[in-house]
Amino acid sequence: MNYTEGMLREGSLKGKNILITGGGTGLGRAMGEYFLELGANLVITSRKLEVLEETAKEMMAKSGGKVIPVVCDVRDIEQVESMWAKCIAAFGQIHGVLNNAAGNFISPTERLSANAFNTVLDIVLKGTSQVTLTAGKHWIAEKQPGVFLNIVTTYAWTGSGYVVPSAAAKAGVLALTRSLAVEWAKYGIRSNAIAPGPFPTEGAWSRLLPGDLVKKFDPAKKVPVGRVGVHQELANLAAYLISDFSAYVNGDVITIDGGEWLKGAGEFNNLEMIPQEMWDMMEASRGKKP
Ligand code: HXC
Ligand code: NAP
Repeated sequence: MNYTEGMLREGSLKGKNILITGGGTGLGRAMGEYFLELGANLVITSRKLEVLEETAKEMMAKSGGKVIPVVCDVRDIEQVESMWAKCIAAFGQIHGVLNNAAGNFISPTERLSANAFNTVLDIVLKGTSQVTLTAGKHWIAEKQPGVFLNIVTTYAWTGSGYVVPSAAAKAGVLALTRSLAVEWAKYGIRSNAIAPGPFPTEGAWSRLLPGDLVKKFDPAKKVPVGRVGVHQELANLAAYLISDFSAYVNGDVITIDGGEWLKGAGEFNNLEMIPQEMWDMMEASRGKKP
């Protein structure tokens, strides 16, 4: 057994209907595939119907579950409400929402137009809050329990230059997660977040490491465990957090980054650049043999 394999036992998500925003590509798709394998049905949503339909077809060919593609730009509340109505019409009840849709790109902040800044804020923070509000109001009115799982990133708390709108928006999503974990627990609604480190996807890599940058900045080099993430290990964590096995986990953010952000934070972590011979010399200079 290792981290490239599914972790939960068969049927762990049987009978669960789960909405995944940004579910047609990348990490949303990978998490969705595993939820399906565990017995769930899915609604996958994003702006591109063709992508969603193709993904839904491929997903259903691999598993017994149902996958319904629904177009929705999460920035538009009318589209969000109509998408939610389609979820309910299809399945009667949605048990979990995976807020995964995002927009991002790198840029010196002073080069951004107001529209560029707002575009990322709107997809990530406004989009997540609109989906959350729509689902939460429905669950509360119908007296149904529910679970939110929000995908953030480690710079939600450290901040990061060159992706400032994304950092500000993800910090907001984290605050939303923690706030509602307390406020809506009385309705049986849990909220948690996952903060992934680098997990290669076409969407992220093309926008965050465009052109030659991918050769200059190998993300694996920043990770203490020496590699980037494998989609299945994120899917394992997500499946646990969206399942009833995590019933007592509420309001937390779980980092899955191989120790990446802490490596950047620890004052003396870059001493790993000191070769063994230099440590030997330092030891010898205080009178101890190597
Ligand atoms: C500067 C840019 C830009 C760039 C777009 N803009 N790209 N500014 N640098 N690279 C500006 C545009 O000029 C425009 O401003 C405004 O942003 C809106 O651009 P549009 O192309 O009209 O927006 P839209 O079609 O809505 O596309 C949204 C998008 C795009 C965010 C720009 O990249 C997208 O669709 N992204 C979705 C998927 C995605 O980003 N996935 C990666 C997530 S990875 P003006 O002023 O000219 O009108 C992630 C990882 C986090 O989040 C952590 C990693 C470790
Ligand atoms: P991705 O494939 O580009 O996923 C982003 C998804 O969001 C796409 O499916 C996109 O579909 C959808 N989306 C974008 N704008 C939307 C909008 N306005 N309305 C609805 N859907 C929209 O990239 P990814 O790497 O899998 O990212 C998934 C999540 O993981 C994001 O939250 C990201 O911040 C997070 N994350 C990724 C990494 C990583 O290393 N990959 C690290 C940390 C966090 P459409 O274009 O069809 O709308």
